[in-house]
Amino acid sequence: MATRGAWGSNTGFILAAVGGAVGLGNLWGFAYSASQGGGAAFVVLYFGFVLFVGVPVLTAELVIGRHTKRSPIAALAAVGGDRMKWLGVFFVLVGFGILSFYSVIMGWTGRLLVDFVRGAVPEDTAAHFGAISEGIGAIVAHFVGMIITILIIVRGVQRGIERVSVVLMPTLFFLIASLAVWAATLSGSGPGYAFYLQPELSELFEARTITGAAGQAFFSLSLGMGAMITYASYLPGRGSLPAKAGLIALSDTLVAFVGGLVTFPVIFHFGLQQEVSDSAIGALFIAVPRGLLSFGAAGQYVGIVFFSTLYIAALTSAISLLEVVSSAAIDSLGFSRSRAGWLGGAAIALAGIPGALSSDWVGFLFQLVGQACLVLGGLLLALIVGYVWKDSARAELLAGFDHPGLASAWIWLLRTVVPVMLAVTLYFSVVALGPVARALFD
Ligand code: TRP
Repeated sequence: MATRGAWGSNTGFILAAVGGAVGLGNLWGFAYSASQGGGAAFVVLYFGFVLFVGVPVLTAELVIGRHTKRSPIAALAAVGGDRMKWLGVFFVLVGFGILSFYSVIMGWTGRLLVDFVRGAVPEDTAAHFGAISEGIGAIVAHFVGMIITILIIVRGVQRGIERVSVVLMPTLFFLIASLAVWAATLSGSGPGYAFYLQPELSELFEARTITGAAGQAFFSLSLGMGAMITYASYLPGRGSLPAKAGLIALSDTLVAFVGGLVTFPVIFHFGLQQEVSDSAIGALFIAVPRGLLSFGAAGQYVGIVFFSTLYIAALTSAISLLEVVSSAAIDSLGFSRSRAGWLGGAAIALAGIPGALSSDWVGFLFQLVGQACLVLGGLLLALIVGYVWKDSARAELLAGFDHPGLASAWIWLLRTVVPVMLAVTLYFSVVALGPVARALFD
């Protein structure tokens, strides 16, 4: 077997993992879900969920990855025997499915970026989005995104993923902070913040809000399909895994939160509340460009910054998804890295074509593989680590983290709170499949 890649530094690993986590889900899904789920009520629930469910599952993935030093299929076989290998196969398929629609959305983002750079965004942003989101143009933009992703993956863990993340992630932090400062100067910022940060307590107890926060957190933290197992499999040496999990979760949540500080002032400044509540996609790709156009040249610059930020976020996430598929092909089929990257990437590019022809298909796939399957994967993972593999998991955790009490608390969460929360969330995310499936047919 070829030698496995390894991260060059701890910072490199953290930035790559944060890059995988921070994506379209943070900058578009979080603000949208918050606006639907009672503003700050949602935000508070989300934080709680990240802390008590997200961090334990993320830690479990890091523990499995570092312990086995294998991609998900081989890693789960090592943890739970040969039968468990099928869960790894499921993970890889979920990663394949997510990237097939994610890359389409990334393509829309890239197309709007190019249009802003050329100053070619027309007045009627809704018609424009209709034209660029489905058809040949969308397929081309999706392919371009996949090719960029493949070119980075085939360069390897350290020379590809790490090098790109170390440059792009600080850039992204800078850009999003700049956008938040700009948004604060808008006249609608006050009401925007108020809506974002005043809890609508009645919403706090709605099952929809609770499970919405849970599903959103899972997608945003890239949990439930082995992405973090894969990245942790390249971790050399020891070190505290809970500290890494905490840092990754904190960064991801911070970016999502700051993303809301950009989005809500913009929405209120331009009076786009109605449009946003009509559709999540509409918020990002129709309402924001419309608002920016009314600003003239300054709006064009902000548009360039805004869509560059989104593209960077999407690209580093796409990288983490393709790495799951490629590393599985390398470990389980004996492919070379370049063969795995090109073949896996090409298959995903082809599988993404239906999404580039129908945005209803994108919505359906998001709900199926981006929500229900992830929550199911996380649930199974928690049960395996909490009940079957707990002694080795504990030992691996305690290497580099000398807090036996916290290790016990972690295992306890994986056995109780985490599975219960995820089972309820799974139920609601399966129920939510109905409407999106119906949308495919009318
Ligand atoms: N977390 C990313 C986002 O918020 C998307 C993503 C990348 C992802 N890799 C993943 C989601 C793995 C689930 C699993 O946009």
